[in-house]
Amino acid sequence: MKITGNTILITGGTSGIGRALAEALHARGNRVIITGRRQALLDEIAAAHPGITGLPLDLDDPGSLPRLVAEVRARFPGLNVLIANAGISRTEDMAADGWDATDAEAIVATNILGVLRVTAAFLPLLKGKWGATLMATSSALAFVPRADFPAYCASKAFLHSWLQSLRHQLRDVPVEVLELSPPYVQTELTGPAQAADPRAMPLDAYAAEVMDLLEREAHPRDEILLDRDLPRRFAERDGRYDAVFAALNPG
Ligand SMILES: NC(=O)c1ccc[n+]([C@@H]2O[C@H](COP(=O)([O-])OP(=O)(O)OC[C@H]3O[C@@H](n4cnc5c(N)ncnc54)[C@H](OP(=O)(O)O)[C@@H]3O)[C@@H](O)[C@H]2O)c1
Repeated sequence: MKITGNTILITGGTSGIGRALAEALHARGNRVIITGRRQALLDEIAAAHPGITGLPLDLDDPGSLPRLVAEVRARFPGLNVLIANAGISRTEDMAADGWDATDAEAIVATNILGVLRVTAAFLPLLKGKWGATLMATSSALAFVPRADFPAYCASKAFLHSWLQSLRHQLRDVPVEVLELSPPYVQTELTGPAQAADPRAMPLDAYAAEVMDLLEREAHPRDEILLDRDLPRRFAERDGRYDAVFAALNPG
């Protein structure tokens, strides 16, 4: 991915990883469009960073994405980078009486269908553009699941597989397809406690590492992964899957 001079749309840009990347990419001379449901945050971030534009997108509202696409086509026809980053995470206890699929359905809708729909909507705009790039945010949990986040981990495993096929199909277009697989990072993805959890990586440090990997093009297989997550990424290949699974899922 070219590191400057792009027009970049980031879904889930109102907070956490999406916001941090939006601000870092803006600082490197990119025009950045962030999307999300929280209008007050879209306004606040745009006001603080001339050159960042905030546009509403609610992936649960079928009318929202077509409105966004029409506005981006009209105002930002030079769009050449899409970062499909919006996602949600919830624990699920499938052994509990009364467990139902409500949370899993919400996760599938946002993390899987949301990425597919956003990609389908914006891919025509990216094709043929200088530096055309599509990045989607999966997770280090795509490779070995944490059993208390079953649908979440499976949604990220879906993206890991799907992005490989997308990359292959777009190889001659060309559109570069990148997979961003974050470790556990201090955001409010699972609630306010995560943002202060000392076991999670500080958000600024994670964003800085991602920018460094992008700048150095240090992402073999087009997967943006921290070195610390490589044992998880290659657990199956290295014959360590059961041990890694057990470490992630004690008891
Ligand atoms: N933090 C971690 O430890 C971690 C680890 C691995 C992967 N990830 C992934 O990183 C991505 C960003 O998460 P985060 O950690 O930065 O958490 P976050 O701060 O909660 O960010 C999630 C973003 O997604 C947007 N979003 C959620 N549901 C949406 C919907 N229905 N329609 C439109 N936008 C929606 C939110 O915006 P609004 O609320 O304004 O709509 C928000 O900007 C996610 O895909 C997550 O799975 C995070």
